[in-house]
Amino acid sequence: MAPKLLLFLLCALLTFCPVVDAQEPATPSCPINVAIRGGTVTFSDEGRLGSTLTYSCPPGTYPYPLQSRVCQSDGKWTPMRSPHGPRVNTAQCREIRCPPQMSFEHGSSSPRRSSHPIGDILSFECYDGYQLHGSSQRHCLPNGRWNGTSPVCDDGVGHCRSIAIPPGAIATGGRNRLGDRVSFQCQNGFNLVGSAQRVCTLEGEWSGAEPSCRAPYSYDRAEDVRAEFGASFTDVLSEVSSSGPDPSGTVQAPNLGRRLILSKDNFLYIYMLADASHSVTEANFRIFKKCLEIIINRVASFDIAVKFSILSFASQPKTIVDIHEDIAEDPELVLEKMKSDMNYKDHGNATGTNTYAALDAIYRMMINDRANVLEKWDKVRHAIILLTDGKSNLGRPPKDAVRSIEGLVNVGENRKDYLDIYVFGVGNLDVDWSAMNEIASKKPGEKHAFKLEKLETLKEAFEDILDPKDLDDICGLANYSINAEWYQKNPWHVLLQENHQTEPSCRGALISKTWILTSAHCFNKLNDISTWRVILGGGESSLSIKRRIDHDLYNVRAKLSQGIQEFYDYDISLLELENPVPFGGRIRPICLPCTEGANKALKKKSGTTTCKDHELELLSFEKVPAQFISLDNKRMNVRIKTKTSRPSCISGAVQEGMIYSQVSDASEVVTDRFLCSGDDNGVEAATCKGESGGSLFVERRERHFQVGVISWGTYDPCKRKNAKEIIRVSPQRSHKPRDFYISLFSIQDWLRQHLGKSLRFIPLQ
Ligand SMILES: *[C@@H]1O[C@H](CO)[C@@H](O)[C@H](O)[C@H]1NC(C)=O
Ligand SMILES: *[C@@H]1O[C@H](CO)[C@@H](O)[C@H](O)[C@H]1NC(C)=O
Ligand SMILES: *[C@@H]1O[C@H](CO)[C@@H](O)[C@H](O)[C@H]1NC(C)=O
Repeated sequence: MAPKLLLFLLCALLTFCPVVDAQEPATPSCPINVAIRGGTVTFSDEGRLGSTLTYSCPPGTYPYPLQSRVCQSDGKWTPMRSPHGPRVNTAQCREIRCPPQMSFEHGSSSPRRSSHPIGDILSFECYDGYQLHGSSQRHCLPNGRWNGTSPVCDDGVGHCRSIAIPPGAIATGGRNRLGDRVSFQCQNGFNLVGSAQRVCTLEGEWSGAEPSCRAPYSYDRAEDVRAEFGASFTDVLSEVSSSGPDPSGTVQAPNLGRRLILSKDNFLYIYMLADASHSVTEANFRIFKKCLEIIINRVASFDIAVKFSILSFASQPKTIVDIHEDIAEDPELVLEKMKSDMNYKDHGNATGTNTYAALDAIYRMMINDRANVLEKWDKVRHAIILLTDGKSNLGRPPKDAVRSIEGLVNVGENRKDYLDIYVFGVGNLDVDWSAMNEIASKKPGEKHAFKLEKLETLKEAFEDILDPKDLDDICGLANYSINAEWYQKNPWHVLLQENHQTEPSCRGALISKTWILTSAHCFNKLNDISTWRVILGGGESSLSIKRRIDHDLYNVRAKLSQGIQEFYDYDISLLELENPVPFGGRIRPICLPCTEGANKALKKKSGTTTCKDHELELLSFEKVPAQFISLDNKRMNVRIKTKTSRPSCISGAVQEGMIYSQVSDASEVVTDRFLCSGDDNGVEAATCKGESGGSLFVERRERHFQVGVISWGTYDPCKRKNAKEIIRVSPQRSHKPRDFYISLFSIQDWLRQHLGKSLRFIPLQ
């Protein structure tokens, strides 16, 4: 773009530019009788100065020559030009097509066309003596990209494997001997993303990242981001994590693309940058914030030492969290600060996009930090995540700042893994592929630059990202994907059923590979447990029970002589499974407080916390929001009444016409073992018969902690509508429902006695 035009555009973006007719009452506005052939037009702010016009096209087509235009101070929309320069008068929706395979070495590709319609299939075959690696067939997808991976034909002779030549590109230069250099060029109208030049290295790998040729309109789909960013970033996280019970030794990370030996003193810094420039708009900025929040929460669920830094930027950067602030280590505080201190409006009228200044701010932070941590600096890994609409229009080239950062982190041949820069361009066609590509890291087999059509797609992609499937024993994780099935969202929930019954009579919670926590009254001292089954993962597995351990002090008849027919103190049992269950998406344990697993999930350093701290952390409010799972698999909300709210909750145990109507003092039946929920207006959920044994749990940063086991209540809201359906009915006005749960903090000795070999507990006090 010519500098003059750049200034002109910039002026149009910034409302403080001299408005010639400032004295006149009428502010200039642009005509809104604009059309696009085959599509529709929408306007922000009704065509007033600075408003945006957006073209939309039906699926399979894209707006040509651009997607959006801004109303300029001369009362005209920004002009439209074709990629070759000439002005275009009428916008139109054009067919999305995939680029052709222009060259394919040692084999053939068919069919051969100058471009391919959506749905076309490219097939590849290798000549005799060559083996095909990659996809032998690729489909042209609706976003103008080929699926699968670039095929190559290789005879196994060269130092490196034959190099992949992406559709839309030609390659020049050497073959595949050590030191050979291959350059790529994309056909007209396409941008090269990845490395434009690759070298056959000593390790027998091609340097840099595989290039692809991207049309301005070719977006990444949510699943592409999920797969590609997810894989790359999960590697970064796993590299830093040093999972495994032995904290002193070094461990080999499992299944990593980046063969690396890990040690405990590795540290990861994540810097996040959100674009707050004019063209992003406030609504979209909020989605950026949401995306950052999702990433922080996901990262925090990994067991790794990590620090976060947050910045927003427009013409100037604003630091929300500096990497060497104390709070940078605490995801909770980072999120809080982000919520309170990060606003679109912070950038006032200075709403240009200065990506250089933003990256330079990170560079400066790094310099400061290096001075602080000295010799540890070399062990720190850095990941930068930039969310932008991509239109950098102020300051020096962003690449300059990237070079400074690379120099500081000392990204040499052997230290490539110490810096990852991811760039997410979101929005209209003006997002500049080549600018994004300059900033993003380039690593073999990985992608660091993404362009998405809508911010919602980015949010959707992040929601499913960072699949911790390799991190086997983390507790309390649930799948937050919108596509996740119910059991993936509640993977610890189990059903308990006696063989001859038609349906489960109790619930329970998986707390380790072999142990289930439930309530003792489900069995009423029954000796033979062999007729019972544990159903996990929504019926995926139905398992037999090896033994049951009721709490020694559970005795439902203990107070018979005082006229109390049923007494539920210590109403808790452990079931040991015959065989350990493998954890997966639908089967995973809930966190048991006062264990190491829960400690990690709460982001506490090992050895610094006690059981008491967990109790204070999880039950710290007067009315603690908690949940249980209903008969028809819904999460029900209750509030556990603690401190000054507890006495009136407990007093509700004794009510007219209920089982304990004869009891004079509620504390006779509600001992210190019980947690209490319920309210006087019947607004809160109440538990049903059959829900007994299920977990009462609290959620903290996307992790789940069991605090109680459902024992008994004063009111059963469930009524059977027909054979299949159950409805929950509100109680009569005079009745104040109460529910009672055995608190896991009150039976620690018993839990430790029986689970000490399966779970690692932290000190009580
Ligand atoms: C490409 O997409 C087609 C159609 O959706 C599918 O059948 C095929 O398996 C995909 N190929 C690859 C390699 O993903
Ligand atoms: C932004 O511009 C408006 C109008 O030009 C002006 O009144 C206001 O003071 C400016 N605000 C800031 C923070 O510069
Ligand atoms: C979450 O659920 C989605 C949709 O079913 C699935 O694709 C993804 O692999 C799941 N993630 C985990 C960690 O199980």
